[in-house]
Amino acid sequence: MTKTNIILDCDPGHDDAIALLLSCYSEKLNLLAVATCAGNQTIDKTSRNALNLLNFFNKSDVPLAKGSSHPLEREIQTCPEIHGESGLDGFTFPLYKEKYDYRKGYQLIIDTLLENEDVTVITTGPMTNLALAILHNPKITKNIKEIVLMGGSTTEGNITKAAEFNILVDPEAANICFTSGVPLRMLGLNVTRQILVTDEVIEKANAIHTRGSDLFVKLMKVFNENQRNFFGLSAGPLHDPATIVSLINEDVFEFEDMNVTIDISHSDQAGKTICSKEKLPHNVKVATKVNVGLYWEEIYKHLRRCK
Ligand code: BDR
Ligand code: CA
Repeated sequence: MTKTNIILDCDPGHDDAIALLLSCYSEKLNLLAVATCAGNQTIDKTSRNALNLLNFFNKSDVPLAKGSSHPLEREIQTCPEIHGESGLDGFTFPLYKEKYDYRKGYQLIIDTLLENEDVTVITTGPMTNLALAILHNPKITKNIKEIVLMGGSTTEGNITKAAEFNILVDPEAANICFTSGVPLRMLGLNVTRQILVTDEVIEKANAIHTRGSDLFVKLMKVFNENQRNFFGLSAGPLHDPATIVSLINEDVFEFEDMNVTIDISHSDQAGKTICSKEKLPHNVKVATKVNVGLYWEEIYKHLRRCK
């Protein structure tokens, strides 16, 4: 089987952690590099979390670079209300040795893309590193097969009425990526808010009894509690693994071609992903439907593999 080469740019983050687990344990993917960005927590915390996770998944050999500590033009916003003080509250890792790649996140993305063709770049946080990589070396776009992102929404946002967190934090970066000419696939709140970590999901995961399921259950209990308190949701939506699931199982999501632009104003519309099926050109494949049962099957399958 030919594996899909991927770079994961993330801000772990409870749901980012599960996206990273799937990236490490899927037989269909070849994880070339990981970059971190500030988002759910500060850059030092999201990077420490990514380092802990890669070690926990026995993938400390995958290059991991610290990315940007702040958005391109705006002040950084973090989300401790959902992800806690550490950015990954609920699980205690062994004390792994700090070992980061010597390059900045955007430089690791550039070098990895120059050394490989047909790479899928996945972003599960603000798109700052990828935008910086494109700005520093526009030639890399020819080696990107596709950008697959968790972000945006065809309907409402979550942090403001208009905007979803990842896009809201750095709309200018998202705008650079969305106008780069690279094929894009967007998995936004309109589908990810249907993927809820219900008590039944936690029970099923709990019955798996692997290191992966133990991590999942401990993280999700805190994530769920915070989602309930902060957003008033009945259970937390597991947003970020949607990117990875869409790559490993084509039956889980349905996509529609749309024109998507990013609101980069400083108004209450900032960070909105303006989606239209009528307007041309169609620059993004937007997820519009999800088979929730199949989604969870993919998650359980990968939790079983993390022994
Ligand atoms: C996104 O924001 C973050 O808090 C999550 O990790 C996810 O990437 C959802 O809006
Ligand atoms: Ca995230």
